[in-house]
Amino acid sequence: MTFPSDFVWGAATASYQIEGAAYEDGKGLSVWDTLCRRKDAIWNGQTGDVACDHYHRWREDVALMREIGLRAYRFSISWPRVMPEGTGAVNDKGLAFYDKLVDALLAAGVEPWPTLFHWDYPQALFERGGWLNRASADWFADYVAAVVDKLSDRVKNWFTLNEPQCFILFGHRDGLQAPALKLSRAEVLLAGHHALLAHGRAVQAIRGRSKQPCRIGWAAVGWSRVPASDSAADVDAARRATFMILPDDILDNAWWMDPVYLGRYPEQGLEFHGADAPKVHDGDMETIRQKLDFQGFNTYNAKTIRAGQGGAIEQVPLPTGYPMTATGGHVTFDCLYWPAKFFYERYKLPVIITENGTAAADWVALDGKVHDPDRIDYVRRHLLHLERAADEGVPVQGYFLWSLMDNFEWSHGFKMRFGIVFVDYVTLERTIKDSGRWYANVIATNGKHLHEHAYA
Ligand code: FCB
Repeated sequence: MTFPSDFVWGAATASYQIEGAAYEDGKGLSVWDTLCRRKDAIWNGQTGDVACDHYHRWREDVALMREIGLRAYRFSISWPRVMPEGTGAVNDKGLAFYDKLVDALLAAGVEPWPTLFHWDYPQALFERGGWLNRASADWFADYVAAVVDKLSDRVKNWFTLNEPQCFILFGHRDGLQAPALKLSRAEVLLAGHHALLAHGRAVQAIRGRSKQPCRIGWAAVGWSRVPASDSAADVDAARRATFMILPDDILDNAWWMDPVYLGRYPEQGLEFHGADAPKVHDGDMETIRQKLDFQGFNTYNAKTIRAGQGGAIEQVPLPTGYPMTATGGHVTFDCLYWPAKFFYERYKLPVIITENGTAAADWVALDGKVHDPDRIDYVRRHLLHLERAADEGVPVQGYFLWSLMDNFEWSHGFKMRFGIVFVDYVTLERTIKDSGRWYANVIATNGKHLHEHAYA
């Protein structure tokens, strides 16, 4: 009952959510800078202009990571900070920021795991068509090359894209996230195809230029489906539901993951989308399907599935009084166990959980501490289920808790606190929460602490 001895205990953040310094040192604008200027786009009119001010306080933040004993830190690199126009000239000051950060992390014993794109798409490229322009994949590869040339003598692990499902669908179909478009299904699928091509081109650029052997994956959304019981019929229904394509949705796992891991769009999806399916050029699927070293996915909760008549997939409604996070989302404690198993069965790559965690109603208590027993219990129970998958033979290699620190939660502004470090957005003071201290014990004992006591 243990995690592998080289298990990657990490925490994650993203550039726009923590860095601030939106207009400093030659950074170009991203679509998030633009969206945040739009009236009513973000809760209470908030912006990521300052966020956690990590751009200036990174030394302090690395010291906190060392104090917690993090083995790995998943952060993202801001494309327009490195290339203000999205392509062409490199902003040396922008790249220098990540260069210093990587050095400081390594000096603190924290392995850097950068994500090359976590949603802050360059505004200049958006004005040239954005993800609808097939050249997006070339532009991304150029930017990735500049980053890899600078950092790959020290960085050994890379993520290409974070949650393409979200930035394409919520950003281009639903208008909820930058660039806040509401496009047709055909256009959304085309933008998605270009994002998949960008992933493939990025992997090629990393492999072709890295100064040392490295490991590459991405951080997709892992939509989780768990069975209502352990019966073979329910488990089978949940497995099928995990990879099912819904006629009126494009969020499905298989639509996004099959091309990357298997080199094809699922037949059922092509059938449903018909003439709206993206035009696939010769060689596209080979570009998209690159050899990867692991499969990363972000999972926060699950739908519960049971087998109905003849094995039909049925979603089980949430029971009255179901466990709920501070943001109203439901909690499904075994939502890492089942996808770890199902995704491993289908794609046969080791699993890394690239995000999991919860928002909670945190504040600094009279004793000066931040008590967040709900987050501790959430993470504890999810990790115990992940350990169960590892015990049963799934190669589970890592876990990145979302998030290292409270931050700018996209269109929700600063309403939601996901951190294991509390950030006072007025003074920018940081306080390690109880969960951060607890996670330090989990890391130091390689998970044994999960079986001891929860709140110390
Ligand atoms: C994920 C995002 C991450 C954060 C968490 C709460 O979808 O990747 O940036 O917003 O949700």
